Amino acid sequence: MDKNSLTRRQFITTASSGAIAAAVASGAVPAYGNVSKKAGKLAMLGGQPVRTKPWSEWPIWDQSAEGDILSVLRSGKWFRGWGTKVTEFEKKYAELMGAKRCLATASGTTALLVAMHTLGIDAGDEVLVAPYTFIATFNVVFQSKALPVFVDTDQETFTMNPDKIEERITKRTRAIIPVHIMGQPADMDRINAIAKKHNLLVIEDACQAWLAEYNHKKCGTLSDLGCFSFQNSKNLPAGEGGAIVGNNEEIIDRCYTFHNCGRPHGSVKATGKNPLRGTNYRMQEFQAVILMSQMKRIQRDADTRLENALYLTSRIKDIPGVIPCKLAPGATRSAYHLYAFRYKKEYFNNIPRVRFRSAMAAEGVGCGPGYGPQNKDGLIEDALSSKGYKRLFSKKRLKKYREENHLPDNDQLCQEAIWFSQKFLLGTKSDMDDIANAILKVYENRDKLA
Ligand SMILES: Cc1ncc(COP(=O)(O)O)c(C=O)c1O
Repeated sequence: MDKNSLTRRQFITTASSGAIAAAVASGAVPAYGNVSKKAGKLAMLGGQPVRTKPWSEWPIWDQSAEGDILSVLRSGKWFRGWGTKVTEFEKKYAELMGAKRCLATASGTTALLVAMHTLGIDAGDEVLVAPYTFIATFNVVFQSKALPVFVDTDQETFTMNPDKIEERITKRTRAIIPVHIMGQPADMDRINAIAKKHNLLVIEDACQAWLAEYNHKKCGTLSDLGCFSFQNSKNLPAGEGGAIVGNNEEIIDRCYTFHNCGRPHGSVKATGKNPLRGTNYRMQEFQAVILMSQMKRIQRDADTRLENALYLTSRIKDIPGVIPCKLAPGATRSAYHLYAFRYKKEYFNNIPRVRFRSAMAAEGVGCGPGYGPQNKDGLIEDALSSKGYKRLFSKKRLKKYREENHLPDNDQLCQEAIWFSQKFLLGTKSDMDDIANAILKVYENRDKLA
């Protein structure tokens, strides 16, 4: 197949950036529609911005929560051991997820820590992790004194690339932590199949994926355990908070035990005189009350985000150099905690991403650059060169780790990603038009931004 027979999208996907640059230079890059007449002068250069209205606030709360918060306050039962609200929330959240059980925790980070400890991930183990994620996903592996081994990212979906997993497995590998980042489900069928073949555990980091679905099942319920975050910016917020969901009662009892200072819970029996190992990662009653109030709107908000995201994609997918994030095979629904696309500057007169973002912000449509190449963060070397890691891993293993810690696809994604907050998606179609029109305006004025 020659270049002329490729669609624009296939061309972008298959061509190297050098090849794209050559195509741009030769004039082979398609022009987009006839929007220039409408585009107008960029706000950055003194024109009228596309948008002056503010975006939706987040979080959104209503007065119906006030009575419940006040009654917890007045009861003096603020700790889950004395109150009933956390237990009530756990039942409701398990039901919402279609899981047998849920354990509420203090945060998403502590949910991951509890899951890892309970499943037996221990000092000296290796855990395969997605690098395109919030820092907590791999910090928890370090907390467990295990080695986070990064697997390269599929640029189309922003999630762990299953083709790159097996090459990273060693004799010490115990688990895989795929991340449903931005609410985009990871390719769980393939990840689970690889895990089964190599006898590995799978813990889903679903901290951004409430109500996302894979094969019509909720993310977080597709593996050994799934972990969620309810931090203030999240689609289900409570300031701080987290949860683990699972279908194995005995495992959730062990999670409960660990998060409650090791006090045996349910089917867990104490061994000897002392309690089991544990810590305090409990959720407070106030957090549970806020969560139950927020749960009343979560499905409606998720439907609005989805509808708006699909409309936005339909508006921007044909703009040259704009490649919206795609669902992985088998994924049936994104939670759209963030809406992302890849920005190919070759199509925008080589305007650096940072300048594109400034132009968008001036149009009233601020956007973020996404995550950086975190596999190169200083904390990795900090851990590897620590006394503990030198004791736990051989010199040879640490040398190989450093040599192999290169993720070309993730590196490129980190340079090209653009994302919008979930709250942009809570508006109307006309709000989505503002986003699309701002991108188009920058595209049409690309020659003036050099
Ligand atoms: C992907 C991911 N994993 C883990 C976490 C950690 O959750 P928390 O901030 O509730 O500890 C977050 C939170 O931002 C997250 O986005």
